[in-house]
Amino acid sequence: MSPDTLTLARPDDWHLHLRDGDSLAAVLPDTARRFGRAIVMPNLLPPVRNVDDAMAYRGRILASLPAGMRFEPLMTLYLTEATTPADVRAAKASTHVHAVKYYPAGATTNSQSGVTDLARCDAVFEAMQEIGLPLLLHGEVTDADVDVFDREAVFIERHLQRLVDAFPRLKIVLEHVTTREGVDFVTSARPGVAATLTAHHLLLNRNALFRGGLRPHAYCLPVVKRERHRQALMDAATSGNPRFFLGTDSAPHAKSAKESGCGCAGIYTAHAGIELYAEAFDAAGAIDRLEAFASFHGPDFYGLARNTETITLTRQPWQVPDELPLGAVALVPMRAGETIGWRLQDTQA
Ligand code: NCD
Ligand code: ZN
Repeated sequence: MSPDTLTLARPDDWHLHLRDGDSLAAVLPDTARRFGRAIVMPNLLPPVRNVDDAMAYRGRILASLPAGMRFEPLMTLYLTEATTPADVRAAKASTHVHAVKYYPAGATTNSQSGVTDLARCDAVFEAMQEIGLPLLLHGEVTDADVDVFDREAVFIERHLQRLVDAFPRLKIVLEHVTTREGVDFVTSARPGVAATLTAHHLLLNRNALFRGGLRPHAYCLPVVKRERHRQALMDAATSGNPRFFLGTDSAPHAKSAKESGCGCAGIYTAHAGIELYAEAFDAAGAIDRLEAFASFHGPDFYGLARNTETITLTRQPWQVPDELPLGAVALVPMRAGETIGWRLQDTQA
């Protein structure tokens, strides 16, 4: 029987969507209450393309932080076919940009400006390797002839293997890994290759999309997979292997944009950003492995100091509201109207 109270070093979120404007202000406190830092995704409209965009966005995030809360946004650039080696060098020199994010064009929310041919970015990858700026991958192909459930495995075969070999010192993160193939690739890859795991991919398999009817709030990208893949993700998360660390991919969308004839991808989990992982690890009998996964492996990979503050969680079920405010509209969080088994003892304002 694991303990009912768990104190761990304050975790960080290595993959987060904060959006902008009113939405940013609405969601940011959920993350800042739990996490010390977060890698902030650059898929705004227009995207965060250069150091000036990143610094301006960082300023808006800090301005949205409620008084008394501490939180450090770790900025990223959105890779386009127009990104230059000079762009990534300037970003690195700013000290506030910590990675560059690759989206295949058309793969997901606001990815219109993404890359159609990775080879066009080789000079940028060369520069990133040299200066030590990690490449974060949305690891899916978008070819219409590839089954949507196979997009990650095909990306690994067609693109990831080449990137890992062609740039042997480039730090690479396979973001929100969802398959056994992804886990196996990362586990056996050369040093400098890692992956983030979301709480929803640890907790849900693809049945969740069809539980009693079509469930748009369980739809995200990469889409949740079969149970055997979920088990492989759980094994990776609880293995103690430092290549695997926490990245929520919390992705707020208005309720109306999800409950639609063509609903958009993304699951909001920031309201329980660490509690959902605690539940998953506890269910696997591995709650003692949560701290390293959530608080140590990420900063070690990025070459940042581990957080020195702590947070405390208790095994105490609480009910998630049906909706949360998202500026003038509402979002439907993960587990809306249902319970979560672990609760955060709040220390931040
Ligand atoms: C993300 C979003 O909404 O920005 N959606 C998602 O399903 N994860 C984009 C992304 O990370 O793919
Ligand atoms: Zn994402």
